[in-house]
Amino acid sequence: MGTDNGVQMDLRRNDGGIHKSPTGDTAPPGAAEILEQRKEMIRFSWSLLDKEFNAGAAESFYQTLFYRYPEVEAMFNGADMGMQAKKLYDMLRVAVRFLDNMEHLLPSLRDMGVRHARVYQVQRAHYSAVTTIFIETINNFLEARLQSVVSPESMSVIRVDIAASWGWLLTLVGNTMADAADSDRCNATGATPTR
Ligand code: HEM
Repeated sequence: MGTDNGVQMDLRRNDGGIHKSPTGDTAPPGAAEILEQRKEMIRFSWSLLDKEFNAGAAESFYQTLFYRYPEVEAMFNGADMGMQAKKLYDMLRVAVRFLDNMEHLLPSLRDMGVRHARVYQVQRAHYSAVTTIFIETINNFLEARLQSVVSPESMSVIRVDIAASWGWLLTLVGNTMADAADSDRCNATGATPTR
């Protein structure tokens, strides 16, 4: 692990995830190793985001979401967006805490997915929109925070790592929620899920 002015992670890692095996051969990392790297990146970035995310980044997240996907704004009709940002933040904090035990989180994600579809009319495509904007928000936030200690080249590597890591987590969360909503819809109509 390298340090970059106290930043406790090798931010300059730029080997595309290729590692030397004990015998010296170059071998691609296994899925388990990639997963651990992603979790490490999520925990690291969350440790920088935590506290400050609530105030600044969450607000910017919703502003960007509504600007890029105007149809979504009506779903939040009358919601207190400060409270909403806190709920999303709290849920993500829990997801980060449960990274090694995601199976414990699945039941509440499923309940939330059913509620999102039934009550707020959220559809599967909306989860990708949220994932895209959330990754952009984290990256912009981290860039502002790290620009004095990390080179632009390293920052571009970090952006890609952040997209892969948070993309994995948010896709897992979004798919779990959307799948539960599909099953709920099918149970109600007697149809079979297509996905
Ligand atoms: C990463 C996935 C998401 C998470 C973790 C999440 C989390 C939450 C939480 C914790 C709440 C509080 C109430 C409840 O649990 O029902 C909530 C409410 C809500 N969410 Fe999500 N959400 C996600 C995705 C989405 C998406 C994709 C949309 C639509 C674009 C959406 C729209 C809403 C709306 C409209 C409310 C209700 C706001 C109100 O009227 O108070 N959410 N969300």
